[in-house]
Amino acid sequence: MDTPPFALFAHLDQRPVLVVGGGALAERKVDALLQAGALPRLVAEQLTPYLQQLLQQGLIAWTARRFQPEALEGTWLAVLASDDPRLVREVTTAATERRILTDAVDPARQPPRSPAADAQHGSGAGRVTLVGAGSGDPGLLTLAALRTLQQADVVLHDRLVSEAVLQLVPRHVRRIEVGKSAGQHSMSQQAIHALMLQHARDGARVVRLKGGDAFVFGRGGEELEFLRQHGIAFDVVPGITAALACAAYAGIPLTHRDHAQSVRLVTAHCKDSLDTLDWQALAQERQTLAVYMGVAGLEDFRTRMLDAGRAAATPFALVENGSRPEQRVITGTLADLPGTARAYQVKSPALLLLGEVTALAESLHWFGSPPLRAADLAQPSGNVDASILSRAA
Ligand SMILES: C[S@@+](CC[C@H](N)C(=O)[O-])C[C@H]1O[C@@H](n2cnc3c(N)ncnc32)[C@H](O)[C@@H]1O
Repeated sequence: MDTPPFALFAHLDQRPVLVVGGGALAERKVDALLQAGALPRLVAEQLTPYLQQLLQQGLIAWTARRFQPEALEGTWLAVLASDDPRLVREVTTAATERRILTDAVDPARQPPRSPAADAQHGSGAGRVTLVGAGSGDPGLLTLAALRTLQQADVVLHDRLVSEAVLQLVPRHVRRIEVGKSAGQHSMSQQAIHALMLQHARDGARVVRLKGGDAFVFGRGGEELEFLRQHGIAFDVVPGITAALACAAYAGIPLTHRDHAQSVRLVTAHCKDSLDTLDWQALAQERQTLAVYMGVAGLEDFRTRMLDAGRAAATPFALVENGSRPEQRVITGTLADLPGTARAYQVKSPALLLLGEVTALAESLHWFGSPPLRAADLAQPSGNVDASILSRAA
C-alpha cells in the first residue's frame, strides 16, 4: 500500500485484539495494548520469555501456530508485529476482507538511530551497554549514561534504580523491570540473560541499567561473560557505587589523613559470605569498611568484628536510601550496632560504614536530616522512646 496510513487513537478497553507475532516487536505492541486495557490474543509459532511470562500471568492469550484467517474471529483490530512481508500481506488481506482494521509497523514512528549505532547494527546484531545508574539521585548519572539511555531501544533495569533516574528514559523506549531486591527474585539471572540476548539478536540497543555501579556487587561480570559467549557486542558505563554516594551524602570522607588510610568494600548478605571474609584483616584500625547488603546480618557482623579485635567503641554509620530525598543516617558504636538498627527500624537499601571516619557525619552532614544517634535512644535498644521513633519514621 503506497498511500500513507491514517493515524488513529482507539479506545480498546476490554476489547480483544489480535497480535500477529511473538518477538520483540510484539512485546512492545502488547505492552501498549495492556496499558490501553485491551485483551491481546497472540498468534505466533513462538513467544519470547517475556511474553511467556505475561501468558502465565493470564494477561494475554496465545495460539501457538502460524497466522490463519480464522484467528481474526471476534477481534476489533489486527496488530502486525512481524517483519515477514508475506505474513504481513496475508494478515492485511484477510483483515480487509472482514473489515477489520490493521495496525501496521510504521517505520516513520520508530525511534531515530544515531549513525554510530546504525553502523553497529549493520549486521542486524544489537548491542548491550551495562550502565551504572548511581545510587538514587539522578544527578549522579554520568553524561555517558544519560546519552546511552537516550539512544536505547530497550532498558532492562533493576529494582534498585530510582524512579527519578527512570524518568530520564525517553517515553518511546521500552522499560522492563528485571531486578531483584533482597529475598524477592522477580526474574532469575538466566531469564535476564535470555532477555538481553533476545533483544540484542533482534538488533536492539539494549541498556542493562543497574543500581550504583554494575561491577560492584552487581553481577555485571557474569552478564558480560554470558554476552561474550554468545557473540553479542557490549560496553560498560560506570556508575557511582553506594559506598561513594552514601559516604558523600552523609558527610563521611571514606579516607582521611588522621583517621583512615584504606577503604574496603565488603558484602555480607548471607552466612556463606560472612564465612569467607578475612575478619582479622577487616578488624584492623584506621580503615573504613563499606558493607553492602548487610542489614539482615548485623548481629553476626558485630560478634565477628569484636572477636577479631575491633574495638567496641568503633563508630559506625548506617545510611539508608543514600542520596535519595528519604535518606536517613544512623550513627553509634560497634557495641550497639544491631540494637540501634533495630530501634530505628533500618530497612534495605542501607549501607553500613564502619570506622573512625564515620564519627565525622556529626559535624560534616549537609544533606537531609542530621544523623539519628544511638545515644539519643532514651532506653535500651528494642524498647525505644516514642518521640525517637517518630523522628525515625
Ligand atoms: C546488590 S547490591 C548492589 C550494589 C550496587 N551495584 C552499587 O554499586 O551500589 C545492593 C546493596 O547496595 C547498597 N545500596 C545500594 N543503593 C543504596 C542506597 N541508595 N542507599 C544505601 N545503600 C544502598 C545496599 O547495601 C544494598 O543492599
